[in-house]
Amino acid sequence: MLVGRRVLVKGEVDSTNTIAKALALEGEPEGTVITATRQSGGRGRTGRIWESPEGGVYLSVILRPDLPAQDLTLLTVLSCLPVAQAIEEVCRAVPRIKWPNDVKLEGKKVAGVLVETCYRGGEPRFLVMGVGVNLNTDPATLTAPEAGSLRAICGKDIDQEHFLNVLLFKLDDFYSRFKKGERDLDLYERYSESLGQDIEVRLGDQKVRGKGMYLDADGSLVFRSDDGMVYRATSVHDVVPLDRGQVRFETGNVH
Ligand code: BTN
Repeated sequence: MLVGRRVLVKGEVDSTNTIAKALALEGEPEGTVITATRQSGGRGRTGRIWESPEGGVYLSVILRPDLPAQDLTLLTVLSCLPVAQAIEEVCRAVPRIKWPNDVKLEGKKVAGVLVETCYRGGEPRFLVMGVGVNLNTDPATLTAPEAGSLRAICGKDIDQEHFLNVLLFKLDDFYSRFKKGERDLDLYERYSESLGQDIEVRLGDQKVRGKGMYLDADGSLVFRSDDGMVYRATSVHDVVPLDRGQVRFETGNVH
């Protein structure tokens, strides 16, 4: 086992990603995991805050993959898979992945992944894969309207140690198979709420309707508009679910 062969357990921290980065810069080997009970400065994608009260699982993994840049972005997008699998195994309910990096259950966001890459001289040096899961979180402590707690949704307390073990096992399995060239795209499709679905893309004031087709080699979401054009959305875009299972890109350009 590579992911989790060394686990550093912390109480309240600023951000486990920040700690992992500092350790990686000091030479901490690949696979080390940092967990915390709370975060005062939890970060989400695109500069958002990740609310991190007591009861959640907050962890970061140091990875040093020797892979081309395109594979690193795909790794980032697919990293929701082991999180969704762990939730399914422990909660006995099937979550959905909202491209690119959200995990949802019953329409609520219950987990997210933030992968940060550290470069030197234009070359990636290491990655920090940060995972946040609202496990036994009191929903009253989550202010974001889209956020949900697994305990509240599943109606029971979840054994945190068991969940952590399952999650680390799934992350390790995913990472070792990814490095061998296995891509799990069929599995991703099973969990995806964007692929094969009607979507609406917002381009400034314009909206484009279409259908999510597939993930590109670098994890971009390729979709076909109703008038037959094929677009490619990179992971800087957000997908927001609409009624009837539709999704829409919230901001940014699609090219
Ligand atoms: C997102 O949904 O935007 C990604 C959220 C990622 C949150 C995790 S919690 C552990 C790690 N430390 C952080 O500051 N962020 C990630």
